[in-house]
Amino acid sequence: MFVIFCTPTTFCFKTTPSKNRMILTRIIRQMFRKSPRVRTPIKALAQADIIKMLPKLSPPVHNACANFFMPVFWETSNPESVVTSATEIINLAASGHHFADNFLTWGRNMSMLDDHPFRQAWESNLESVSDEAIIWRRYVLACAAYHCVQLQGDFVECGAYTGVGIKTVIDYLGGVEFPKMFWGYDMFEHDPSMLNHAMPEHGEGLYERIKNKFAAYPQVRLIKGFIPNVFENNCPDRIAYLHIDLNQAPAEVAALDYLFDRMVPGGILILDDYEWSTYRPQKIAEDQWFEARHYRVMPLPTGQGLVIKR
Ligand SMILES: C[S@@+](CC[C@H](N)C(=O)[O-])C[C@H]1O[C@@H](n2cnc3c(N)ncnc32)[C@H](O)[C@@H]1O
Repeated sequence: MFVIFCTPTTFCFKTTPSKNRMILTRIIRQMFRKSPRVRTPIKALAQADIIKMLPKLSPPVHNACANFFMPVFWETSNPESVVTSATEIINLAASGHHFADNFLTWGRNMSMLDDHPFRQAWESNLESVSDEAIIWRRYVLACAAYHCVQLQGDFVECGAYTGVGIKTVIDYLGGVEFPKMFWGYDMFEHDPSMLNHAMPEHGEGLYERIKNKFAAYPQVRLIKGFIPNVFENNCPDRIAYLHIDLNQAPAEVAALDYLFDRMVPGGILILDDYEWSTYRPQKIAEDQWFEARHYRVMPLPTGQGLVIKR
């Protein structure tokens, strides 16, 4: 219960009862006002309509699993030998193998390749060999998004870069009909004073190019600026899906500080680099952050970390 104390100056003798009501209403509004509301340019869909537009599960092929071999990987002393060894292992192993993105496994269902709407969204957005190699990471995002699109709240990616991750998710879930606001934050250029490394496409013109990429998607709001400062007055109140991919601990923790409380119960957070030892300072900082809030980050074999908001 809230109790409102009115001082005599607020309710002076000259005001009428109806004026008092207006003043009281204004005070109550001000008390509960958060950061300025940003209007959504898309019409919110009813739950039943969202369910109708979800991608359908493709009929499975029995007794056969797809394979994925894309020798893009990092952190080895002799890449050629790694490819030779991986090929030898795959030749000895059951089908359903995956070799890419520092991740060799076999005897898997390779679900992402069974899911035709996903394959289409992923293939149509490929821009680099790295995009191609991280298919399993993209499918984790797509499955998280499938869940989160049915919740209240917007979608957010911190570290939008070329927008491939955002667009793959959107195209999986309706393309131009995607029923949520999707906020993408990035500096779109490299600042050598920061801890994250430069990306190949960083530089002048990147922001404009990525904005043009989303010209047909009014639900995408791309915001150029430094995280966390950029969130001020430029951030949704409620978040269902949060993907953080900044390659550096301070900015990721700052993003958590600002955004995690805005996540709705059941919302999903994916930390792109959490389980990569190259980015160990991120895991260490994030573990401490989540430990204080009694959460455990679920490390995925893709190198991502997953948290479900309570
Ligand atoms: C690995 S890229 C993101 C890739 C993208 N998520 C994808 O799936 O393709 C990391 C991005 O984080 C951005 N970044 C890092 N620190 C930042 C900060 N403090 N503020 C804004 N952007 C930042 C970089 O500019 C870079 O483009």
